[in-house]
Amino acid sequence: TRRVTVRDIAAAKARGERWPMLTAYDALSSRVFDEAGIPVLLVGDSAAMVVYGYESTLPVTVDELVPLTAAVERATSRALVVADLPFGSYQASPEQALGTAARFMKEGRAHAVKLEGGRRMVPQVETLVSAGVPVMGHLGLTPQSVNTLGGYRVQGRSDEQAAELLADAKELERAGAFAVVLECVPNAVAERITGELNIPTVGIGAGPGTDAQVLVWQDMAGLSPRVAKFVKTYAALNETLAEAARGFAEEVVSGAFPDEAHSYA
Ligand code: KIV
Ligand code: NA
Repeated sequence: TRRVTVRDIAAAKARGERWPMLTAYDALSSRVFDEAGIPVLLVGDSAAMVVYGYESTLPVTVDELVPLTAAVERATSRALVVADLPFGSYQASPEQALGTAARFMKEGRAHAVKLEGGRRMVPQVETLVSAGVPVMGHLGLTPQSVNTLGGYRVQGRSDEQAAELLADAKELERAGAFAVVLECVPNAVAERITGELNIPTVGIGAGPGTDAQVLVWQDMAGLSPRVAKFVKTYAALNETLAEAARGFAEEVVSGAFPDEAHSYA
């Protein structure tokens, strides 16, 4: 088996094929997703919340995300591994963006990076792509901008906002991005952008009309305690894990564990 590449991603769009993306942050779960055939794994800055326990994505650092990226890459053999550039690690200049991306690719062995923002990020995207770094864009609800957006809310509801989103998406494509995430935008806006782009759109809270779909894996698998309206849970890991922990605790207290089968005579 060989790795999925950005060329495979482009070919999927040309064939009109939809594909799934999940976040990944550690070896065992990313191995499961790789073997389940998820073609693209994102080491999201959502690790800020689901791994590190921060309130938002803003505090997480490159130093915190690079080792998670390396773990995901080591544990997988097929998936394209995309690393999120965290807040403050790329916005200042194309040089800053390239320095950060190089760390994710050299130390984390990422195959691509993702960054948030539209037209204002074109210089960064151009510099990265010309240096050989595939870039995934991210538009709509961009969580690193929660303080300027005034909360986690649907973006692109007005015709004017929708036109801005389309213009941003087209500029990212022109700058060389290989895909663009559309987060929390109305279905019709996502569908319009998807139809006008030659690169795939990856929706999250953007309806059925995008080329791909992404979810945070702990949301998808029912481990997260609260999820947004757009999340569908495909398992109930929270209950499963809690039951396992309670079972273990009970048997330790009662002395039922460990028994003969689980010890050395
Ligand atoms: O950090 C993240 O998990 C993301 C995806 C949900 C798109 O950016
Ligand atoms: Na992110």
